[in-house]
Order: sequence, then structure tokens, then C-alpha cells
Amino acid sequence: MQEADLLLVNASQVVPVAGGRVEPIENGAVAVQDGRIADLGPTPLLRQRWHAAKILDLQGKTVVPGFVDPHTHLVYAGCRHHELEMRLAGKTYLDILEAGGGIRYTVEQTRRASHQALLESLLQRLDIFLSQGITTVEIKSGYGLDRTTELKMLEVVQEARKHAVQDLVPTFLGAHVVPTEYRDRRRAYVDLVISLLPEVRDLAEFVDVFVDEGAFTVDEARRILEAARDLGFGLKVHAEELAHTGATRLAAELGAVSADHLDLATDDDLQALKAAGTVPVLLPSVTFFLFSSHYAPARKMLDLGLPVALSTDHNPGSSPAYSQIFVATLATFLMGMTPAEVLAAITYNAARALNRHHLVGSLEPGKQADLVVLDAPSYVHLVYDLARPLVEMVLKRGEIVYRRRAFAL
Ligand code: NIG
Ligand code: FE
Repeated sequence: MQEADLLLVNASQVVPVAGGRVEPIENGAVAVQDGRIADLGPTPLLRQRWHAAKILDLQGKTVVPGFVDPHTHLVYAGCRHHELEMRLAGKTYLDILEAGGGIRYTVEQTRRASHQALLESLLQRLDIFLSQGITTVEIKSGYGLDRTTELKMLEVVQEARKHAVQDLVPTFLGAHVVPTEYRDRRRAYVDLVISLLPEVRDLAEFVDVFVDEGAFTVDEARRILEAARDLGFGLKVHAEELAHTGATRLAAELGAVSADHLDLATDDDLQALKAAGTVPVLLPSVTFFLFSSHYAPARKMLDLGLPVALSTDHNPGSSPAYSQIFVATLATFLMGMTPAEVLAAITYNAARALNRHHLVGSLEPGKQADLVVLDAPSYVHLVYDLARPLVEMVLKRGEIVYRRRAFAL
């Protein structure tokens, strides 16, 4: 008999998602020690193997890995609800961007905001993410588009690491759009982004480029991403969202960790991702929120064996979404992904998109004890229950960091 810090027992299901496979353990149990998963399996077996001072009886509940959100723009000031009304009146996202609104509006607000104000609003958003079971979050810069504000955003993320419960993964997105003051000097702006790379090396793990109509070209992205790769950054690309540009093939060619959006990706693009091992990160809440009907070809990707990940893409313009469960629901009903596929997409595959699948994203002995207790007897309820708050409890490194109810289980 071994001694654990905590034993979760009698769960209707424990779904480890090991290696991305969804194979529920009925009447499951999990042993946690030193913030890591020590063991998991059927309750009677774990009861024989483990003693623990603290035991949680989870009858009727489901235990899944903490959700990972691999693509967010969570640091920003202001909000863009007025653009929703403009879009309802017939303007498109690109019309608004090209008229100096959209991302550029958020840039103005973010440049004016203090470090402290950005930090506080970020922590509030992370708190909501936690209540939705999200325990690891990627966060991009990209609403600064000048040296001072890009650094400010990345420093805010570093500061947030000291206060937030989640693991935060920072990405430098200096190449989000060309800022207004560089409108006629695109090359100079790309040069500026490249010149900032050594300076942000200690502040960001990934470099991302928004390649699209109204944003950057494949050639511009190549210059930035090759320089980033040479400095040892992991690479990400916003690809094939509003127009098909060839960004996916660039991502694959450069060995990017992920290619994100992919609404307009072609069969050739999918083959390139497969050959390169680049993870497709799909963002259906953007497609939904922009009233588009071009959802990414998720079924084709899955049938090809690609490790499809899902993300909120939380940002104030194209996806003010706070929940991976909501995104998973869209993926099921609008892209035909099964409940098992969406669960893998917001856990293990999302962790792959951040190069963290050895640490988080599944419940396996030795991995971080980040887990979510769902108030439902099966993981299928993730998408079966529409907008019912399902997250009962969240554990981060074995500690209870969120409880929906006041009573103790
Ligand atoms: O991922 N596509 C580029 N960036 C964001 C949108 C940002 C914004 O509109 O503020 C996205 O959709
Ligand atoms: Fe994005």
C-alpha cells in the first residue's frame, strides 16, 4: 500500500485521453502525489494500492484533463461590441479593419492602457477561463504593434504568471497587422518586427504571424518566421482564415508547431500539415461570430489522422469566447466532430499545439495533476448539455483551485 496526497474515487468516468485516445475508465479513480498524477484506474484497484489522507468521492461525476487553450489574444484594453452592431448592419470584418477599426481600434486602446490595467483585466479573464476548466493558456501579444506596447503586453503576461492559477504560454505576434503609421512602409514594419525578436526572446516562447488579406503576405511571414526559427522560437501561423494565401504550406515547410484557423485550407494543405507534423488548431467560434459559413474541414483532417485541436481564439473582435466547452459544442454541431474528438481537441491535441503534451493535456502517471470534475456521468455531456455550467471543480497541480458549489464533496 502506498501513500498519496489525494485520491479521487467512484467517478462515473475518468477519461485519461492518453496519447489523444478517449477510453473512459468506468467507476474510475485517480491518485495524486506531489502535484502529479501517481496512478489511475478502476476504483476497487486503486483502493487496494493507495491510501490517502484526503479522499474525494465523485459519484455521478466525470474526470477529464484540465482544458488547454492553445490560441488566445487575452491581453487587450477596450471592447468592440459596436463592431458586432456594424457587422449586423452589413459591414464585414475586413471593411471595419480597412477603415482603421478592428484590430487597429484595439491597438489604440491597448497603447493607452497602463501595465496595471492590462494586468487586472487579463487576470479577470483568466479567472473566468478557470471556471470553464481551462488550466493552460497560450496568450499572444499583437495589440501593440510598436516596441513599447508589444513589450508591455509580454511583460504583463510574465507578471500574470505570478498571480494566475493557469500555466501561461506567451507568443509574440508583432506581425498581427501593419499599424496605421507604417501603412505605406510595410517593409520597414516587417524589419521592425524582426529587429524585436532578440529582445522578446526571453519573454515569448512562440512567434506567430497573421497571414491574410488585410494582414501579412506569405513572403513577409517567411522573413519573420525564418528569423524567429533561427533564434530558437517555436512557430505558429494564422493561416487561411479570410483568404487562401498558402500560409499553411509555409507553416509546414518551416516546421511550425501549429497552423491556426484553416477555414479555407485545401486538401494539399492538409497533406502538408500531415507530412510536417504541424498541428491544425481550429477556431470555429470565429467563423460563427463572423457570420461565415466556411468552417474548417475538420472531418477531412480527422479522417487523414491529423491531431485536430480547438481553441477559443479569445479576442475582442472576432471571438469574445471564454469557454472551450462552447467551442467544442460548435465543433460538434457545425463541423461534425464527435464528443470523443472534441475532448481530445481541447486537451491532448491542444497541448501538442503548445509542445506541452509531455506535461499536460492527459491524465497519465508523472504528468501534472491538472484535472476537471464535470457534473455529469459521461464526457459526452460536454456537448450534449447546451450551456449548462458543467465544471464542478478544477484541480491544478493537485490543488483544488476552483469549486462551483460551496459544499464540500
Ligand atoms: O485570430 N486573425 C487575427 N487575429 C484575431 C482577431 C483579432 C481581432 O479582431 O482583434 C483572430 O481572429
Ligand atoms: Fe488569433
